[in-house]
Amino acid sequence: MSVPSLEDLGDLDGKRVLLRADFNVPLKDGEITDDLRIRAALPTIEWLQEHGAIVTACTHLGRPKGEPDPKYSVAPVRARLAELAPGVELLENLRFNPGETKNDPAFVQELIAGQDAYVNDAFGASHRAHASIVGPPQFLPSAAGRLLQREVEVLLPLRNEPKRPFVVILGGAKVSDKLGVIEALAEVADSLIIGGGMAFTFLKAQGHHVGSSLLEEDQVDTCRRLLASGITIHIPSDITVLGPGGKIGDPAAGGEVRQIGADVPDGWMGLDIGPGTAAEFTDVIMDARTVFWNGPMGVFEDPRFEAGTRTIAQAVADTRAFTVVGGGDSAAAAKQFGVDHQVDHVSTGGGASLELLEQGDLPGLEALRGAPNA
Ligand code: 3PG
Repeated sequence: MSVPSLEDLGDLDGKRVLLRADFNVPLKDGEITDDLRIRAALPTIEWLQEHGAIVTACTHLGRPKGEPDPKYSVAPVRARLAELAPGVELLENLRFNPGETKNDPAFVQELIAGQDAYVNDAFGASHRAHASIVGPPQFLPSAAGRLLQREVEVLLPLRNEPKRPFVVILGGAKVSDKLGVIEALAEVADSLIIGGGMAFTFLKAQGHHVGSSLLEEDQVDTCRRLLASGITIHIPSDITVLGPGGKIGDPAAGGEVRQIGADVPDGWMGLDIGPGTAAEFTDVIMDARTVFWNGPMGVFEDPRFEAGTRTIAQAVADTRAFTVVGGGDSAAAAKQFGVDHQVDHVSTGGGASLELLEQGDLPGLEALRGAPNA
């Protein structure tokens, strides 16, 4: 699994280094709302600069359609980077070029022109076999940056040698998005906790009514099979629901909010785990020695449906287990509820952390292992 590290790049004094970072930060009205991903790359940038390298950084931002789109300009990122790491040039959004997602060899050549070495510190994008991730290591001495290295060092042992009991908490909207990781982790985890929108497909598989809650009808059989497989899977026993006429994210629109058992009446929508479930899940988390959490328990952006995610975030902060929050929405929730500094590791990669746990490898790591200096 070992990939070359910065020390394997040789003498960098006066050399040009292309740094692939994941500066895909959340933006609101053109302002960065969380600069974690920029700050997370600073140890690598500082190391490179201390060793005399001239650093050109590159990143994607959002999902533009292979052509320039002012909405996805990296200008706000460039401004923040200039404050945090003066002297680093930042190329325009890689995905403005259709060659990036297509892994076009011509775009790879464009990226590496004039560069002496390549560093991948874009953990959050290393599950994408895109030009800037897998292309440069074919031609340039290459290395994993400090962030990429740390993410792999923390996440891989969860899959390979977790301290037990190992509890995996999964939430979010869709079973289909997480099926691979559910199946892979079911092999190694002692128990799975399922919350969020995906819990309703499991509840349906158990014969419950789900009303107007999120449901993936085509995954019901899969959930039934998982529930019958002998793995310990905890699913909600009570639910916080929104009544007819209510709107998610708009309390002023009305609609009754109630806590009910595991059956949702027609016309009602389950939007959070209930307090009984939150307490049951907390007990499981408190007894764990390793916890991996990916995905919120409910629609926590709406204060009426934040309690479940808040309670789980607090349990993850309070347990004596080694705790890892797997990027994306759960990292945002940990931050919103003020516990992000009380967990052992907040991953900068959502999809990447899941794919690393599922596959045990990532295209970006594989590419680094094939570099000329590896
Ligand atoms: C992320 O935000 O998870 C990464 O930056 C990857 O983005 P992508 O899903 O658009 O490839």
